Amino acid sequence: MKILITGGAGFIGSHLVDALVTQNHHIMVIDSLIDGHLSNIQSHIDSGICEFIQADIRDRKIMLEELPKVDMIFHFAADPDVRNSVPNPMSSYDHNMNGTMMILEYMRAHNIKKMLFASSGGTIYGEVDEYPIFEKTQFHPISPYGASKAGAEMYLSAYAHSYGFKIASVRFANIFGERSRHGVGWDFYHHLKENPYELTILGDGTQQKSYMHVSDAIQAVLLVSEQIENQKKPYDAFNVGSESWYTVDEIAQIYEREMGLENVNHQYTGGSRGWVGDVAKMLLSIDKLKGLGFKEQVTFTEGVHRYVNWMENLTHS
Ligand SMILES: NC(=O)c1ccc[n+]([C@@H]2O[C@H](COP(=O)([O-])OP(=O)(O)OC[C@H]3O[C@@H](n4cnc5c(N)ncnc54)[C@H](O)[C@@H]3O)[C@@H](O)[C@H]2O)c1
Repeated sequence: MKILITGGAGFIGSHLVDALVTQNHHIMVIDSLIDGHLSNIQSHIDSGICEFIQADIRDRKIMLEELPKVDMIFHFAADPDVRNSVPNPMSSYDHNMNGTMMILEYMRAHNIKKMLFASSGGTIYGEVDEYPIFEKTQFHPISPYGASKAGAEMYLSAYAHSYGFKIASVRFANIFGERSRHGVGWDFYHHLKENPYELTILGDGTQQKSYMHVSDAIQAVLLVSEQIENQKKPYDAFNVGSESWYTVDEIAQIYEREMGLENVNHQYTGGSRGWVGDVAKMLLSIDKLKGLGFKEQVTFTEGVHRYVNWMENLTHS
C-alpha cells in the first residue's frame, strides 16, 4: 500500500513510521516540522523507504493539486498542546480543524477511502461522573484543543457517511515515551535535573490519569488500522490507553525513584487541576480495543525506565 502519514516526523507519528516500514509499504510523510524532528525518521528517508515532504497540511495548493493519491492516510499532524490552547485557541482550531478539513478534501479529490485519525480521549470527553469512560460517552471538552479534536471527529463522521469512506479514530489517553518532548514526564525529568531537591507540581497532586507507553499506542494503532477495511460502520472510534491510572504525586515519585533521588520536597501550585482546561481525572475503557486483540505490554514503571534512559542519552549527546 501507499500510505500517507501526516505529522510523521513527530513523536507518535515517527514511531508509526518505524512500524510501517517493516511491513513493506511505501510511506510518504508530510510534516511542517513546526514541532517534529527530521532526525526521528532520517534513517528511513536515507534508506529510500520513506519519502518526506516538508509542507503544511493547511496548504490547499499542495494538498489538492500536488500531493499524489495514496491508499490510506494516518492523520497525526496537529497542534497537540492542550495547555497552550487556552491562551491560543486559534492555533488548535487552525491546525486541528482546518488541517483535518484539508485532509478530508484531499481524500474527496482523489477518492481515497481509508483514514485513521489521532484523536484525544483525554480531552474530548471532559469531566464525567463515572470511570472508566466508554466511547459512547457524549463529548464535553473543556479546552479549545479538546473542542478541536471533537469537532474534527464530527467532520470525519460526516465525510465517511457522505462520501463512502471508512474512517476510524484512536482516542489516545496520555501517550509518553522516547522522542516525546512535552508532557508531565518530560517536565519532571528536566526540573529534577535542574534541582534534585525540589519539584513544583501543578495543581494539588491528586489529578489522576491514564498513561500509555508509545509502543503500546502503536500496537493499538496497527490493530485499529487493520480492521478499517472490514469496519461495519463508515466511522468508528476506539479508546486507547492503559487500564491503570496514576496521580501526579505518584508519577513524581516514580520519576524520582527512576532517577535515584530521595526526599524531594514537593511544592504545589494548588487547585484541583493543573491549569485551566486540564481534565483532572481520566481513565478510558479499552474493552473495545481489547476486542481487536490488544494486550498492554509495557507497564508504566517500565515505560518510565525506558523514557528516562532516552532522556539521559539525549542530554549527553
Ligand atoms: N502525545 C499524546 O499524549 C497525545 C494524546 C492525544 C492525542 N494526541 C494526538 O496524536 C497526534 C500526534 O501527537 P504527538 O504527541 O506525536 O505530537 P507531535 O507534536 O510530536 O507531532 C505532531 C506533528 O505534526 C506536525 N504538524 C503540526 N501541525 C502541522 C501542520 N499544520 N502541517 C503539517 N505538519 C504539522 C508537527 O511538526 C509534528 O511533527 C496529534 O494529533 C495529537 O493531537 C497525542
